[in-house]
This record gives sequence, C-alpha cells and structure tokens, in this order.
Amino acid sequence: MTIDSAAHAAPAAEAAATAAWWRDAVVYQVYLRSFADGNGDGIGDLVGLRARLPYLANLGVDALWLTPHYPSGGADGGYDVVDHRAVDPEYGSVEDVEALVVDAHALGLRVLLDIVPNHTSDQHRWFTEALADPGSPAARRYFFAEGSEHPPNNWQSLFGGPAWSRTPDGRWYLHMFAPEQPDLDWTDESVRADFEQTLRFWLDIGIDGFRVDVAYGLVKAPGLPDNPGSYSPTLFGHGPEQAMTWNRPEVHDIWRSWRAIVDSYPGERMLVGEVCLADLDQVALYSRPDELHQSFAFRLLKSGWDAHAFADAIDSALAAFRAVGAPVSWVLSNHDKDRQVSRFGGGAVGESRARAAALLMLMLPGSPYLYAGEELGLPQAHVPDEAKQDPIFFRSGGARPGRDGCRVPIPWHEGPDVGFSSDPQVPAWLPVPRGWSEYSVSRQAEDSGSVLRLYQRAISVRRDHPLLGSGDATVTVHGELLRVQVEDDHDAVTCWVNMGSAPAIVPAYGEVMLASDSRVLPTGGSVVLGAGTAVWIAE
Ligand code: GLC
Ligand code: CA
Repeated sequence: MTIDSAAHAAPAAEAAATAAWWRDAVVYQVYLRSFADGNGDGIGDLVGLRARLPYLANLGVDALWLTPHYPSGGADGGYDVVDHRAVDPEYGSVEDVEALVVDAHALGLRVLLDIVPNHTSDQHRWFTEALADPGSPAARRYFFAEGSEHPPNNWQSLFGGPAWSRTPDGRWYLHMFAPEQPDLDWTDESVRADFEQTLRFWLDIGIDGFRVDVAYGLVKAPGLPDNPGSYSPTLFGHGPEQAMTWNRPEVHDIWRSWRAIVDSYPGERMLVGEVCLADLDQVALYSRPDELHQSFAFRLLKSGWDAHAFADAIDSALAAFRAVGAPVSWVLSNHDKDRQVSRFGGGAVGESRARAAALLMLMLPGSPYLYAGEELGLPQAHVPDEAKQDPIFFRSGGARPGRDGCRVPIPWHEGPDVGFSSDPQVPAWLPVPRGWSEYSVSRQAEDSGSVLRLYQRAISVRRDHPLLGSGDATVTVHGELLRVQVEDDHDAVTCWVNMGSAPAIVPAYGEVMLASDSRVLPTGGSVVLGAGTAVWIAE
C-alpha cells in the first residue's frame, strides 16, 4: 500500500486525530553524490539510491531528504543550481525522481527534496542574461551595483572574503556564498512567481516536501546598508551583527505563501527550513503555524561533549518551539559539519559518545534528522588537499579545512572498493580512506554490537513506544550526567547519558529498554553507566 492510499483509507475523523507524520518523523539525509553509484561513473545517483531504498526501510526511518539533484555549476556541492525544474544528468532524470518517489512510497518512506531559493548558479539562464544585458528583466532578479573601486558594503561571504565580486564589465554583484552563487533579489515578483512554479512542479510529481536551503536569508535590508558587526566564519550561528543580511522580518511572508501552496496539496506535504540563527527563539518563529512546518534546531550540532551544553541545547529548543506549537527538528550532524565520532573525541571514545548521542537524539520529542553515514559511525575522513572540492577550503586559502571530510562515499561492502560504485575499478569522486571496509554496511549488519544495529534497534523501539519522540521532556544535569525524561500521565522513559570520564551509577526502577553499549550493567535498582554511554529506562 502506498502512503497516499493509506492516508485516504483512514476515516476522516481518525486521520484528523492522528498527529501529522512529520511531527515525530525520523528523517534520513541522503548526500546524493556520495550515497550509491548506480551507473559506475564514481558519482552517486538516483538509480543507485533507488536500489538502496530497502536499506533505509530496514533502518526504519520515516523519510529521506535528498541533497540537491539539480543541474549545477558544481561550485558548491550542488547548491549552485542552474535549473530548478530539472535533474543533473550526472544524477539521472526527472523520471528517475518519479520512480524514486513511487518506490519509496511503496516501502513506506516519504521523500523530501532540497530547494535552494537564496541564490542561483552563475550559470543559471537568468544570470547569463543579466551579465549580457544590465537593463534586462533578469538583471533585476539579482543585486548589481555600479562599479567603483570598493565593494558597495561591508558584507562578507560565509565562505570567506567579500560578499561582492565584479562582472566582466565592472559591475559588482552580491553573493553571500561562493562567487558562483549570486544572490536573488526576492523583492522582484518574477523571482517569487518562478519559485512557486518550481514548488508545484515537484509537488505534482508526488514528493512529500522540501528542505529549504538558507531559509533565514532571501530578503536583504533595503538599500543594502553595512552590517553593524563583523562576520564570524560559521554556517550555524548568525546573530544581530549580521542584521542587514539575515533574518529580515519580510522573509516570513515568503514562507507564509509557500505554506499555503504546500498545504493545498493532499497528503500532508511539509517544509523544513535551514535557519542558522544563534537565537533559537528566532529560529522557532520560522515554524509558526502558517509558516514552515519545521525549522532546524542546530544547537546540539554545535555543542561539545558537555552535559550542561547539551542540556541547554535541548531545553532552549524545546521551550522555543513549544511557544509556536511546532516540533523540534533535532540535528546532530549534516553535510556541513564534521562527523560526530570525530567531534566527540575520535577513536573508541568518540564512537562510544556518538552512540550515546544517537540514543539521546532518538528519544527526544520531535523529529530527528540523521545524516547518512552517522548510522555507521563513520569518522571525519582525511581528504588530501589535492582531492578537495569544497569552496570553503579554496576561498579561505586553505585556512579552513572545508566540508569534504563528512561527504565521503558510503562503504557498502567489505573489500577495497567498498561497493559504492557499480564499477569497482572506477574511483569514487572523493577518495574513500583505506580501512573503511571495517565500517561497511555488510559487515555491520552481521555484528549485533555494531553502530548500525544500535540505530536500527533504537529506531524500532522508538517506533513501538508511544512516548519516544513525543511526550513532555524534562532535562536535568547531575554532575556530568545528563538526564532527559519524557512522560505522559501514565508512563515515563528516562534517558541517562554519562558525559563524564568515569563510570557512574544511575537509578533504574524500571526496565532497561536499550543501552548504547554492552558495558551498561543493570544491577538491581540501578545501572552502572560507563563513560560516554547512554541508556533508556522505562519507568
Ligand atoms: C546551506 C547548505 C550548504 C551550502 C549553503 C549555500 O548552508 O547546507 O551546504 O553550502 O547553504 O547554499
Ligand atoms: Ca553515477
């Protein structure tokens, strides 16, 4: 049965009483280029992904979010889009997306696409028209300024250097990211109308929604005045010092109009926004009832291995989103951030902590987003400079390592070629480190103690337990122990995470449902929790 027919089969009253699927969905982020190569050219693609859908169904996730599949200039991992209503031939065709959606639905998986409205590629038809003719309608869709010696304002690109570059005829144009990603001017009506068509194009195909890139951007302060403060090189924490560029109040109107379009389709389609603002109360405003359905809470991803930092990240997200009635979208990792295992110390310590963090995230009320490869416990890969692709590395003159190390292809099989590509002779687009066959899916599937099996169990226990992923959560810190309890009137589940460096004893009056590590020992009324481990206890 497909998802749609299941939804239609339910009586209307029952359907209304059931909370929307996305409120507690486990969403898996597929980095398309690195997931599975179906045609043997070393680049992940839609055919490869389709063949691996049973893996995702088996993992137990509810939905997948696909990073950009559009024709692209290749300057920023697909986030420089040349045509929003097409598929890059490297990845397949529009028919392949259609087939993907059909197959995914048949397996009970929803499909979210990535949409990139803040900027286009410099190879987009509009930008080439704008370059050729400064008086063209296309030129009004970007920010151009007449040539003078200095850039028009002090804005800095998130990838390093000024946010302004010059055209061959000496004009300046704005790009908040790479120079190959000119920013669109959303005060231009034709920009708005075109994106509405793009939404409908993919929604008509049957996709379940979009992850909205840079949803805190799009609108700029009129007149493009200087920012009051200087830029700090992070993708995840903008504040008032960048107030002329990001989080302009008018952007919320755009999301209201997108929400109306998405909600006009049957079957609970949804929008989740990338909102990289430091203040979670501001982030949550993007998920007001008539705006995006969700907006990412990135504070966990930014938190070091520290009980107070985690508690604050969880508490402030819960409070901020509760105030607008939206679920929290939890993010521990994505394609822009070093992998969890490495962030949390690397090696066996990092892996143990990453396992514990996974248990924590999978019990919190709301919707967790899992980045492909985290379920295998992949560490950040060493990518040699000569193989690097990320503009952050190049634009910072090598000072910032860039994001390639978390974008390395997935090891599917044991053996030197790790089964990423259908042609074992062809090298993957980013080199897979030696020894990664130890992380392979085939190996971990056979090992009951593997990270993969832990994720699988956690997602399945979560699915069967009405409190996990919902309920009210209470967050407390006890020394270096983090405790999160979700409860309703009858039951409670407690998650303890030992964030210290020595074993600790925690009370366990009920049943141990799941532990991140076999070293977690129940001992009549209490549990010995090793350093960097976590446990779920049903109370
Ligand atoms: C978002 C994406 C990132 C990309 C940037 C520009 O932050 O997650 O990968 O580089 O937008 O589109
Ligand atoms: Ca391919």
